[in-house]
Amino acid sequence: MLYLRIGSRMNKCIRTLITAFISQINGGKAMTPGLSSGLSAFNARQFMQMRHACFAFLGVAIFTLSHGARAEEKPMMKAVVAHEYGAPDLLKFEEVPRPEPKDDEALVRVIASGVNPADPLTLSGKYAKEFGTHLPLIPGYEIAGVVEKTGANITKLKVGDAVYGYPTFGGGWADYVTVKEWEVAAKPKSLNFVEAAAVPMGALTAWQSLVDVAKLQPGQTILIHGGSGGVGSFAIQIAKARGARVIATASTANQDLLKQLGADVAVDYTKTRFEDVAKDVDAVLDPVGKETLARSYGAVKKGGIVMCLVALPDRAELQKRGIHGAAISVHPDAADLTEIARLIDAGKIKPTVTQVLPLSEAIAAQQQAATHHTRGKVVLRIGDEPKG
Ligand SMILES: NC(=O)c1ccc[n+]([C@@H]2O[C@H](COP(=O)([O-])OP(=O)(O)OC[C@H]3O[C@@H](n4cnc5c(N)ncnc54)[C@H](OP(=O)(O)O)[C@@H]3O)[C@@H](O)[C@H]2O)c1
Repeated sequence: MLYLRIGSRMNKCIRTLITAFISQINGGKAMTPGLSSGLSAFNARQFMQMRHACFAFLGVAIFTLSHGARAEEKPMMKAVVAHEYGAPDLLKFEEVPRPEPKDDEALVRVIASGVNPADPLTLSGKYAKEFGTHLPLIPGYEIAGVVEKTGANITKLKVGDAVYGYPTFGGGWADYVTVKEWEVAAKPKSLNFVEAAAVPMGALTAWQSLVDVAKLQPGQTILIHGGSGGVGSFAIQIAKARGARVIATASTANQDLLKQLGADVAVDYTKTRFEDVAKDVDAVLDPVGKETLARSYGAVKKGGIVMCLVALPDRAELQKRGIHGAAISVHPDAADLTEIARLIDAGKIKPTVTQVLPLSEAIAAQQQAATHHTRGKVVLRIGDEPKG
């Protein structure tokens, strides 16, 4: 079909060009069937005219063919793409075909997308099998945008809906991304799109740890490591919203943020050993691991729980102390995102956006994420916010 259309377009074009070509060698006058008599008087001037006409013909033909073919191609979009696994500086900013939603997907025009410390890990390819990642890879695991198109089996989302969420396999660092219905929810009304894009990954991880796993209750005490980071900043607020007492850790520069977020006790881990302050807590949320995890078991009361985002808690330590442990693995969940949006619109939680970069600066954004010392969140601004 594509070939035939280009072919018929080309036929028309060739006819037009032949007429123009004949007209050129005849000194600009349209030729009649008496062409052969015109050629009999062929001279040097006519030879030059013919040569020019040949070049013009070739030029227009090439332009028409490439232009005609492009008009039939898929719509294109800007995206950040990795064609091979490795460091963030392998990312390319380029034009790629826009994805088409399948029957169970919606196409979202991305307005902003969050940056996560797990992005460089995904990009490294180290866990490609576990994460289900394939090349070429477009990162971007949290987005806010507007539904552009819906597949035949989409029932809840409508074109024009403002949504935010977590596309399982990324793709958010682009003008458009396809999502499943269970990966997104209505964007919190009180946030703009850049703020909303800073929520999904951190807030879902904190929510699923504190609410689903620890079942944190009013009056309980939780120790939250890395309270100034992408996950910790939401964990402090969710714990406070559930009526818990919060002890949070961060470095000296972020003590003010821990207090602003609502921590009852802020611990500067560079100056104070957290276990000197946090004793007999009901739960620990640990996004740091290693020595921080090893020292956390002793801070938990019998029957309490240690939740780690980056490692499996040590079974022997758990048994010895009579405590529980969990290795958290966040998943997209529209119901959780809806609950989180409700708390945001009620003024109980808000994201901490500390840096907004254009999509073309994705490499710098990933390098920042890889430091593991980001204050709040870095967000990439990708498209224009809808008017009105
Ligand atoms: N398992 C999962 O499902 C899941 C989900 C989300 C994230 N994660 C992982 O969890 C980790 C944290 O994510 P994030 O988005 O919160 O990262 P982030 O935004 O980079 O924040 C890291 C936080 O850790 C703090 N920190 C660094 N070293 C510390 C130490 N020795 N003691 C106490 N705090 C320390 C930093 O505070 P200062 O800057 O003040 O040092 C910062 O607040 C990442 O490795 C990420 O990949 C896992």
